[in-house]
Amino acid sequence: MSFERVQTVVLAAGRGVRMKSNRPKVLHEVLGLPLIRYVLGTLTEAGIEPSRTMIVVGFERDRVRAACGEEGYRYLEQNELRGTGDAVLRAQALLTNFEGELLVINGDQPLISAKTLHLVLEAHRSLKAEATFLSACIEDPKGYGRVVRDKESGRFARIVEEADASPAEKSIAEINAGVYIFRAPAIFDVLSRVTCDNRKNEYYLTHGLNLLASGGAKVEIVRCPDPGEAFGVSNRRDLVVATNFLRWKILEQHMDKGVTVIDPSTTYIEGDVQIGWDTVIQPFCVIRRGVVVGGRCEVGPFAHLRAGTILEDHAEIGNFVEVKKSRIGARSKAKHLTYLGDAVVGRDVNIGAGTITANFDGVRKNETILEDEVQTGSNTVLVAPVRLGRGVKTGAGAVVLKGAVPPGEIVVGVPAKSMRRKR
Ligand code: UD1
Repeated sequence: MSFERVQTVVLAAGRGVRMKSNRPKVLHEVLGLPLIRYVLGTLTEAGIEPSRTMIVVGFERDRVRAACGEEGYRYLEQNELRGTGDAVLRAQALLTNFEGELLVINGDQPLISAKTLHLVLEAHRSLKAEATFLSACIEDPKGYGRVVRDKESGRFARIVEEADASPAEKSIAEINAGVYIFRAPAIFDVLSRVTCDNRKNEYYLTHGLNLLASGGAKVEIVRCPDPGEAFGVSNRRDLVVATNFLRWKILEQHMDKGVTVIDPSTTYIEGDVQIGWDTVIQPFCVIRRGVVVGGRCEVGPFAHLRAGTILEDHAEIGNFVEVKKSRIGARSKAKHLTYLGDAVVGRDVNIGAGTITANFDGVRKNETILEDEVQTGSNTVLVAPVRLGRGVKTGAGAVVLKGAVPPGEIVVGVPAKSMRRKR
């Protein structure tokens, strides 16, 4: 079953009033990535090309566009935020000659998986439905649209939004999870008949489903196997829930791949991180997106590995050490109170406590190169661009100015000078 010919609309024009923010809701981040990037990533994983994905933008549209990246997405402008039904109608102009399936997904639902999208598509096709949507039964349905089923047949009757629901309807645990497949162009005719005769004065996409069902069209419901995926972010507390859901998923994947995580409850590993076998992550560590950690490394406690960091096998990064955009060679150690930024560290290097790469000169970031077997004394400041040759040692408190120190030297002082060696 493939999404090859399916067109997709991502709804991302809303402000997200309950976030109480000047930043559009879909740009709030979970583990270092805006919400909408999770949705776009899931679409890609499901096999939907960016060229077949339209993103509805409105509030702060330029910021949303910039966050989606220049990957061939098409953008639909919704100038007035008149509701999700109106948002989907924006796609009509771009799809005048399109006859086929239209997938619609909310841009604020970062936990939906590609597998679940496939389930919805499979059901839609095998049941030959006019429209199919994803539902979930959750403990606290507050805020979501509730799915009302026909009492006798159990089939879809309608969706009632929270604001319009009666107390009895509010007690329904089955919610609309914000993922739909429609038949185009028919859905556009239906949506043009949607009214805003409701508490929020909005043109609801869900009203379109209700019109289809009351007109006798086949509307199918797919229950989400993991109700957690249906979670939509509305406020700052929801960001925490989404973060924890994804954080545990990522931690479990690493543990399953042979990484020891001593205390998962205090460990933050963002997506797209690689960690080799038998590496141990001590408590209170943050490992950012894209970091690569080799096998048998030791990280933490209290370590921060930022973007662009590569640790080769057996490297050790200890307490209160921040590493940014640096390669740390095999068996090299920075165990205490250190900042390594824009550094290339060779093998068997020992970085003394308090060593700092002064990588920023106020204008640009400069590189520090420490060749194999370098040893820096406590509180060494390396003023980049600087290169320490193989086996160089620095004394405690040395400030090594820009330039190069030849292999084998011992440098001490402020600014650091080569020690006269007894030969
Ligand atoms: C929507 C559904 C609700 C469902 C829930 C799942 C409707 C009417 N209700 O409610 O049944 O349970 O999602 O999370 O669809 N948006 C636009 N333009 C607009 C309004 C919204 O693009 O004019 C976008 C928002 O940016 C957001 C998405 O649509 O990404 C959902 O909108 P929101 O208003 O948050 O809908 P919910 O109240 O969550």
